[in-house]
Amino acid sequence: MDYGHSLLGEFHLDPAIRHLNHGSFGAVPKSVLAAAQGYQIEAERRASTFFREAYHRLLGERLALVARCYGGAAEDWAFVENATAASNAVFLSERLGPGDEVLFTSAIYGAVRKAVVHWLGGRGVKVTELPLALPVEDPSQVVALVAAALRPQVKLLVIDHITSTSALELPVAEIAALCRANGTRVFVDGAHAPGQIALDVPALGADYYTGNAHKWQFAPKGCGVLWVRPGLGGEVHPTTISHGYGTGLQGEFNWIGTRDASAWFAFAEAVEAHARLGGAEAMARNRALAAEAGAMIAEAFGTPISGPPGMRAAMATVLLPLGAGAESERYHREISARYGMEACLMPWGERLAVRISAQVYNEMEDYEALVAALRDYFEYN
Ligand SMILES: Cc1ncc(COP(=O)(O)O)c(C=O)c1O
Repeated sequence: MDYGHSLLGEFHLDPAIRHLNHGSFGAVPKSVLAAAQGYQIEAERRASTFFREAYHRLLGERLALVARCYGGAAEDWAFVENATAASNAVFLSERLGPGDEVLFTSAIYGAVRKAVVHWLGGRGVKVTELPLALPVEDPSQVVALVAAALRPQVKLLVIDHITSTSALELPVAEIAALCRANGTRVFVDGAHAPGQIALDVPALGADYYTGNAHKWQFAPKGCGVLWVRPGLGGEVHPTTISHGYGTGLQGEFNWIGTRDASAWFAFAEAVEAHARLGGAEAMARNRALAAEAGAMIAEAFGTPISGPPGMRAAMATVLLPLGAGAESERYHREISARYGMEACLMPWGERLAVRISAQVYNEMEDYEALVAALRDYFEYN
Protein backbone atom coordinates (compact mmCIF):
# COMPACT_ATOMS: atom_id res chain seq x y z
CA MET A 1 0.00 0.00 0.00
CA ASP A 2 1.31 3.43 -0.95
CA TYR A 3 0.48 5.25 2.30
CA GLY A 4 0.68 9.01 2.62
CA HIS A 5 -0.65 12.00 0.74
CA SER A 6 -1.47 9.95 -2.35
CA LEU A 7 -4.36 8.50 -0.33
CA LEU A 8 -5.91 11.91 0.44
CA GLY A 9 -7.98 11.50 -2.72
CA GLU A 10 -9.75 8.50 -1.20
CA PHE A 11 -11.43 10.96 1.15
CA HIS A 12 -13.19 14.30 0.75
CA LEU A 13 -10.35 15.89 2.73
CA ASP A 14 -9.26 19.30 1.47
CA PRO A 15 -5.84 18.61 -0.09
CA ALA A 16 -4.73 22.18 0.65
CA ILE A 17 -4.91 21.49 4.40
CA ARG A 18 -2.70 19.28 6.56
CA HIS A 19 -4.96 16.88 8.42
CA LEU A 20 -3.38 16.06 11.76
CA ASN A 21 -6.46 15.37 13.83
CA HIS A 22 -8.16 12.26 12.53
CA GLY A 23 -8.96 11.29 16.10
CA SER A 24 -11.56 13.93 16.87
CA PHE A 25 -14.06 13.37 14.08
CA GLY A 26 -12.57 10.80 11.70
CA ALA A 27 -12.78 11.04 7.92
CA VAL A 28 -15.08 9.06 5.66
CA PRO A 29 -13.78 7.51 2.46
CA LYS A 30 -15.68 8.70 -0.61
CA SER A 31 -16.83 5.14 -1.29
CA VAL A 32 -18.41 4.90 2.16
CA LEU A 33 -20.18 8.23 1.99
CA ALA A 34 -21.53 7.31 -1.46
CA ALA A 35 -22.86 4.05 -0.02
CA ALA A 36 -24.55 5.90 2.85
CA GLN A 37 -26.17 8.27 0.37
CA GLY A 38 -27.32 5.24 -1.61
CA TYR A 39 -29.09 3.88 1.48
CA GLN A 40 -30.74 7.26 2.04
CA ILE A 41 -32.10 7.22 -1.49
CA GLU A 42 -33.25 3.62 -1.15
CA ALA A 43 -35.21 4.62 1.96
CA GLU A 44 -36.81 7.52 0.10
CA ARG A 45 -37.92 5.46 -2.88
CA ARG A 46 -40.46 3.47 -0.90
CA ALA A 47 -40.31 4.53 2.73
CA SER A 48 -43.17 2.44 4.14
CA THR A 49 -41.76 -0.79 2.85
CA PHE A 50 -38.17 0.15 3.53
CA PHE A 51 -38.74 0.99 7.19
CA ARG A 52 -40.87 -2.10 7.77
CA GLU A 53 -38.60 -4.59 6.04
CA ALA A 54 -35.19 -3.64 4.67
CA TYR A 55 -34.38 -1.42 7.66
CA HIS A 56 -34.57 -4.30 10.16
CA ARG A 57 -32.95 -6.84 7.84
CA LEU A 58 -30.03 -4.51 7.11
CA LEU A 59 -29.51 -3.69 10.78
CA GLY A 60 -29.52 -7.39 11.67
CA GLU A 61 -26.86 -8.06 9.03
CA ARG A 62 -24.76 -5.09 10.10
CA LEU A 63 -24.88 -6.05 13.79
CA ALA A 64 -23.73 -9.55 12.85
CA LEU A 65 -20.78 -7.87 11.10
CA VAL A 66 -20.09 -5.70 14.17
CA ALA A 67 -19.84 -8.92 16.21
CA ARG A 68 -17.49 -10.47 13.64
CA CYS A 69 -15.26 -7.38 13.79
CA TYR A 70 -15.19 -6.70 17.53
CA GLY A 71 -16.07 -10.07 19.06
CA GLY A 72 -19.03 -11.58 20.88
CA ALA A 73 -22.53 -12.40 19.70
CA ALA A 74 -24.61 -10.12 17.50
CA GLU A 75 -27.45 -9.97 20.04
CA ASP A 76 -25.14 -8.29 22.54
CA TRP A 77 -24.41 -5.41 20.16
CA ALA A 78 -26.49 -2.38 19.25
CA PHE A 79 -25.92 0.64 17.11
CA VAL A 80 -25.95 4.04 18.77
CA GLU A 81 -25.44 7.53 17.42
CA ASN A 82 -22.08 7.84 19.14
CA ALA A 83 -20.17 7.09 22.34
CA THR A 84 -21.90 9.98 24.08
CA ALA A 85 -25.32 8.45 23.41
CA ALA A 86 -24.17 5.04 24.63
CA SER A 87 -22.75 6.53 27.84
CA ASN A 88 -25.96 8.38 28.57
CA ALA A 89 -28.03 5.25 27.93
CA VAL A 90 -25.96 3.12 30.29
CA PHE A 91 -25.78 5.69 33.10
CA LEU A 92 -29.51 6.33 32.87
CA SER A 93 -30.17 2.57 32.96
CA GLU A 94 -27.95 1.80 35.96
CA ARG A 95 -30.16 1.50 39.02
CA LEU A 96 -27.86 3.21 41.49
CA GLY A 97 -28.62 5.69 44.22
CA PRO A 98 -27.52 7.07 47.58
CA GLY A 99 -24.94 4.85 49.26
CA ASP A 100 -23.46 3.80 45.89
CA GLU A 101 -20.32 5.23 44.31
CA VAL A 102 -19.11 5.63 40.72
CA LEU A 103 -15.43 6.05 39.86
CA PHE A 104 -13.61 7.44 36.85
CA THR A 105 -10.16 8.82 36.23
CA SER A 106 -9.34 12.42 35.41
CA ALA A 107 -8.64 11.25 31.83
CA ILE A 108 -12.39 10.75 31.25
CA TYR A 109 -13.85 12.49 28.20
CA GLY A 110 -15.47 15.77 29.29
CA ALA A 111 -18.92 15.02 27.90
CA VAL A 112 -18.96 11.59 29.52
CA ARG A 113 -17.98 13.14 32.87
CA LYS A 114 -20.98 15.46 32.54
CA ALA A 115 -23.28 12.52 31.80
CA VAL A 116 -22.05 10.67 34.93
CA VAL A 117 -22.54 13.77 37.05
CA HIS A 118 -26.01 14.40 35.63
CA TRP A 119 -27.51 10.91 35.66
CA LEU A 120 -25.72 9.33 38.61
CA GLY A 121 -24.62 12.29 40.71
CA GLY A 122 -28.10 13.73 40.24
CA ARG A 123 -29.59 10.64 41.89
CA GLY A 124 -27.35 10.87 44.94
CA VAL A 125 -24.61 8.48 43.77
CA LYS A 126 -21.20 9.54 45.06
CA VAL A 127 -19.07 10.59 42.08
CA THR A 128 -15.33 10.15 42.55
CA GLU A 129 -12.65 11.30 40.14
CA LEU A 130 -9.24 9.62 40.45
CA PRO A 131 -6.39 11.93 39.42
CA LEU A 132 -4.26 10.34 36.71
CA ALA A 133 -1.00 12.25 36.63
CA LEU A 134 0.77 12.75 33.30
CA PRO A 135 3.02 11.51 31.95
CA VAL A 136 2.05 7.95 32.84
CA GLU A 137 5.20 5.84 33.19
CA ASP A 138 3.60 2.39 33.12
CA PRO A 139 0.12 0.84 32.78
CA SER A 140 0.45 -0.60 36.29
CA GLN A 141 0.12 2.97 37.63
CA VAL A 142 -3.44 3.12 36.31
CA VAL A 143 -4.29 -0.32 37.70
CA ALA A 144 -2.93 0.73 41.12
CA LEU A 145 -4.91 3.98 41.01
CA VAL A 146 -8.19 2.11 40.54
CA ALA A 147 -7.27 -0.73 42.94
CA ALA A 148 -6.66 1.75 45.75
CA ALA A 149 -10.11 3.28 45.27
CA LEU A 150 -12.22 0.09 45.07
CA ARG A 151 -14.49 -0.29 48.08
CA PRO A 152 -17.69 -2.30 48.49
CA GLN A 153 -19.90 0.71 47.69
CA VAL A 154 -18.19 1.29 44.31
CA LYS A 155 -20.83 -0.08 41.94
CA LEU A 156 -19.60 1.33 38.64
CA LEU A 157 -16.27 2.28 37.08
CA VAL A 158 -16.09 4.32 33.88
CA ILE A 159 -12.76 3.86 32.13
CA ASP A 160 -11.44 4.90 28.72
CA HIS A 161 -9.92 2.31 26.42
CA ILE A 162 -7.95 5.03 24.64
CA THR A 163 -8.05 8.35 26.45
CA SER A 164 -9.04 11.42 24.54
CA THR A 165 -6.64 14.24 25.36
CA SER A 166 -3.72 12.10 26.55
CA ALA A 167 -4.24 9.45 23.82
CA LEU A 168 -3.23 6.53 26.06
CA GLU A 169 -4.41 2.95 25.82
CA LEU A 170 -5.38 1.98 29.35
CA PRO A 171 -5.08 -1.57 30.77
CA VAL A 172 -8.83 -2.14 30.82
CA ALA A 173 -8.70 -5.95 31.05
CA GLU A 174 -6.62 -5.88 34.26
CA ILE A 175 -8.82 -3.15 35.69
CA ALA A 176 -12.02 -5.00 34.77
CA ALA A 177 -10.75 -8.14 36.53
CA LEU A 178 -10.18 -6.17 39.75
CA CYS A 179 -13.63 -4.61 39.45
CA ARG A 180 -15.31 -7.95 38.89
CA ALA A 181 -13.74 -9.25 42.09
CA ASN A 182 -15.13 -6.18 43.89
CA GLY A 183 -18.64 -6.54 42.43
CA THR A 184 -18.16 -3.32 40.45
CA ARG A 185 -19.57 -3.02 36.96
CA VAL A 186 -17.28 -1.58 34.30
CA PHE A 187 -18.26 0.73 31.47
CA VAL A 188 -15.46 1.04 28.90
CA ASP A 189 -15.47 4.15 26.75
CA GLY A 190 -13.72 2.89 23.63
CA ALA A 191 -14.68 5.86 21.47
CA HIS A 192 -11.30 5.82 19.72
CA ALA A 193 -10.71 2.08 19.56
CA PRO A 194 -12.65 0.57 16.61
CA GLY A 195 -10.39 0.61 13.58
CA GLN A 196 -7.44 2.07 15.50
CA ILE A 197 -6.56 -1.10 17.44
CA ALA A 198 -7.58 -4.75 17.12
CA LEU A 199 -10.56 -5.47 19.35
CA ASP A 200 -11.98 -8.48 21.14
CA VAL A 201 -14.49 -6.72 23.35
CA PRO A 202 -15.88 -9.64 25.41
CA ALA A 203 -12.30 -10.71 26.26
CA LEU A 204 -11.82 -7.43 28.13
CA GLY A 205 -14.18 -8.69 30.83
CA ALA A 206 -16.17 -5.47 31.14
CA ASP A 207 -19.95 -5.09 31.43
CA TYR A 208 -20.47 -2.36 28.84
CA TYR A 209 -18.35 -1.21 25.93
CA THR A 210 -18.97 1.60 23.50
CA GLY A 211 -16.96 2.57 20.46
CA ASN A 212 -17.26 5.01 17.59
CA ALA A 213 -16.97 3.50 14.14
CA HIS A 214 -16.97 7.05 12.74
CA LYS A 215 -13.50 7.83 14.03
CA TRP A 216 -10.97 5.19 12.93
CA GLN A 217 -13.22 2.59 11.27
CA PHE A 218 -14.12 5.01 8.43
CA ALA A 219 -17.89 4.86 9.00
CA PRO A 220 -20.04 7.94 8.40
CA LYS A 221 -20.66 10.19 11.39
CA GLY A 222 -23.35 8.90 13.70
CA CYS A 223 -22.14 5.29 13.67
CA GLY A 224 -21.39 4.22 17.22
CA VAL A 225 -21.73 0.78 18.77
CA LEU A 226 -22.62 -0.49 22.22
CA TRP A 227 -21.86 -3.93 23.62
CA VAL A 228 -23.55 -5.18 26.74
CA ARG A 229 -22.39 -8.27 28.64
CA PRO A 230 -24.60 -11.29 27.88
CA GLY A 231 -27.50 -11.41 30.28
CA LEU A 232 -27.47 -7.67 30.96
CA GLY A 233 -29.03 -6.53 27.68
CA GLY A 234 -32.58 -6.26 29.00
CA GLU A 235 -31.41 -3.84 31.68
CA VAL A 236 -30.01 -1.28 29.25
CA HIS A 237 -32.37 1.11 27.51
CA PRO A 238 -31.72 3.89 25.04
CA THR A 239 -32.38 7.40 26.33
CA THR A 240 -35.23 7.52 23.82
CA ILE A 241 -37.89 4.93 24.59
CA SER A 242 -39.90 3.83 21.57
CA HIS A 243 -41.71 0.86 20.00
CA GLY A 244 -38.90 -1.57 20.81
CA TYR A 245 -39.26 -1.09 24.57
CA GLY A 246 -39.04 -4.37 26.43
CA THR A 247 -37.86 -6.36 23.41
CA GLY A 248 -34.19 -6.55 24.36
CA LEU A 249 -31.06 -4.63 23.49
CA GLN A 250 -31.28 -4.74 19.69
CA GLY A 251 -35.02 -4.23 19.55
CA GLU A 252 -34.84 -1.17 21.77
CA PHE A 253 -31.81 0.46 20.16
CA ASN A 254 -32.73 -0.40 16.55
CA TRP A 255 -35.84 1.71 16.77
CA ILE A 256 -35.58 5.01 18.60
CA GLY A 257 -38.12 6.67 16.33
CA THR A 258 -37.93 7.38 12.62
CA ARG A 259 -34.38 8.32 11.74
CA ASP A 260 -31.72 8.27 9.07
CA ALA A 261 -29.80 5.05 9.78
CA SER A 262 -27.60 5.27 6.67
CA ALA A 263 -24.45 5.63 8.79
CA TRP A 264 -25.28 2.31 10.47
CA PHE A 265 -26.02 0.55 7.19
CA ALA A 266 -22.76 1.87 5.71
CA PHE A 267 -20.80 0.18 8.50
CA ALA A 268 -20.39 -2.67 6.00
CA GLU A 269 -18.77 -0.46 3.38
CA ALA A 270 -16.64 1.18 6.09
CA VAL A 271 -15.26 -2.21 7.11
CA GLU A 272 -14.52 -2.93 3.44
CA ALA A 273 -12.78 0.44 3.00
CA HIS A 274 -10.73 -0.09 6.15
CA ALA A 275 -9.52 -3.43 4.79
CA ARG A 276 -8.87 -1.99 1.32
CA LEU A 277 -6.84 0.86 2.83
CA GLY A 278 -4.51 -1.51 4.64
CA GLY A 279 -6.53 -3.03 7.50
CA ALA A 280 -4.25 -4.51 10.16
CA GLU A 281 -1.16 -3.47 8.22
CA ALA A 282 -2.37 0.14 8.19
CA MET A 283 -3.07 0.04 11.92
CA ALA A 284 0.52 -1.09 12.54
CA ARG A 285 1.87 1.51 10.12
CA ASN A 286 -0.16 4.30 11.75
CA ARG A 287 1.05 3.24 15.18
CA ALA A 288 4.67 3.34 14.01
CA LEU A 289 4.16 6.73 12.34
CA ALA A 290 2.56 8.22 15.47
CA ALA A 291 5.46 6.87 17.55
CA GLU A 292 8.06 8.37 15.22
CA ALA A 293 6.24 11.69 14.94
CA GLY A 294 5.58 11.90 18.67
CA ALA A 295 9.26 11.29 19.44
CA MET A 296 10.30 13.91 16.88
CA ILE A 297 7.96 16.55 18.38
CA ALA A 298 9.04 15.71 21.94
CA GLU A 299 12.66 16.07 20.92
CA ALA A 300 12.02 19.35 19.10
CA PHE A 301 10.50 20.91 22.21
CA GLY A 302 12.38 18.98 24.90
CA THR A 303 9.09 17.88 26.45
CA PRO A 304 7.51 14.54 27.45
CA ILE A 305 4.92 12.42 25.66
CA SER A 306 1.89 11.50 27.78
CA GLY A 307 2.91 7.86 28.18
CA PRO A 308 5.24 5.09 27.01
CA PRO A 309 5.07 3.65 23.46
CA GLY A 310 3.37 0.49 24.73
CA MET A 311 0.39 2.59 25.85
CA ARG A 312 0.00 4.40 22.55
CA ALA A 313 -1.59 3.52 19.24
CA ALA A 314 -2.11 5.87 16.27
CA MET A 315 -2.09 9.07 18.33
CA ALA A 316 0.45 10.81 20.54
CA THR A 317 0.05 13.71 22.93
CA VAL A 318 3.14 15.81 23.52
CA LEU A 319 3.47 18.52 26.14
CA LEU A 320 4.47 21.92 24.74
CA PRO A 321 6.84 24.23 26.55
CA LEU A 322 4.62 27.22 25.84
CA GLY A 323 1.08 28.45 26.16
CA ALA A 324 -1.70 27.89 28.64
CA GLY A 325 -4.08 24.95 28.54
CA ALA A 326 -7.03 27.27 29.09
CA GLU A 327 -6.23 28.99 25.78
CA SER A 328 -6.07 25.79 23.76
CA GLU A 329 -9.27 26.47 21.78
CA ARG A 330 -7.97 29.86 20.64
CA TYR A 331 -4.55 28.45 19.74
CA HIS A 332 -6.26 25.65 17.84
CA ARG A 333 -8.35 28.13 15.87
CA GLU A 334 -5.52 30.52 15.11
CA ILE A 335 -2.95 27.88 14.20
CA SER A 336 -5.45 26.07 11.98
CA ALA A 337 -6.31 29.28 10.15
CA ARG A 338 -2.81 30.75 9.89
CA TYR A 339 -0.93 27.63 8.81
CA GLY A 340 -3.62 25.70 6.95
CA MET A 341 -3.61 22.72 9.24
CA GLU A 342 -6.02 20.82 11.41
CA ALA A 343 -3.79 20.62 14.46
CA CYS A 344 -5.18 19.51 17.80
CA LEU A 345 -4.08 21.72 20.68
CA MET A 346 -5.40 20.70 24.06
CA PRO A 347 -4.88 21.26 27.75
CA TRP A 348 -2.46 19.10 29.78
CA GLY A 349 -3.58 20.22 33.24
CA GLU A 350 -2.81 23.93 33.33
CA ARG A 351 -0.32 23.50 30.50
CA LEU A 352 -0.66 23.05 26.77
CA ALA A 353 -0.19 19.95 24.65
CA VAL A 354 -0.54 18.93 21.04
CA ARG A 355 -2.18 15.64 20.08
CA ILE A 356 -1.29 14.18 16.73
CA SER A 357 -3.11 11.47 14.84
CA ALA A 358 -1.53 9.21 12.22
CA GLN A 359 -3.88 7.97 9.53
CA VAL A 360 -3.16 6.32 6.18
CA TYR A 361 -3.06 9.69 4.42
CA ASN A 362 -0.41 11.21 6.75
CA GLU A 363 3.35 11.29 6.32
CA MET A 364 6.24 12.48 8.52
CA GLU A 365 6.34 15.74 6.62
CA ASP A 366 2.95 16.67 8.12
CA TYR A 367 4.36 16.59 11.63
CA GLU A 368 7.51 18.46 10.60
CA ALA A 369 5.24 21.20 9.25
CA LEU A 370 3.36 21.16 12.56
CA VAL A 371 6.58 21.70 14.53
CA ALA A 372 7.54 24.57 12.22
CA ALA A 373 4.09 26.15 12.66
CA LEU A 374 4.20 25.81 16.45
CA ARG A 375 7.70 27.30 16.58
CA ASP A 376 6.56 30.22 14.46
CA TYR A 377 3.27 30.80 16.29
CA PHE A 378 4.78 30.68 19.76
CA GLU A 379 8.01 32.38 18.58
CA TYR A 380 9.96 29.45 20.03
CA ASN A 381 13.42 28.65 18.69
C1 LIG B 1 -12.81 8.99 24.97
C2 LIG B 1 -13.94 9.63 24.22
N1 LIG B 1 -15.20 9.37 24.61
C3 LIG B 1 -16.26 9.89 23.98
C4 LIG B 1 -16.10 10.71 22.90
C5 LIG B 1 -17.31 11.29 22.27
O1 LIG B 1 -17.48 10.87 20.97
P1 LIG B 1 -18.82 11.33 20.23
O2 LIG B 1 -18.78 12.81 20.17
O3 LIG B 1 -18.74 10.70 18.89
O4 LIG B 1 -19.94 10.85 21.06
C6 LIG B 1 -14.81 11.03 22.46
C7 LIG B 1 -14.63 11.92 21.31
O5 LIG B 1 -13.55 12.25 20.91
C8 LIG B 1 -13.72 10.48 23.15
O6 LIG B 1 -12.46 10.78 22.79
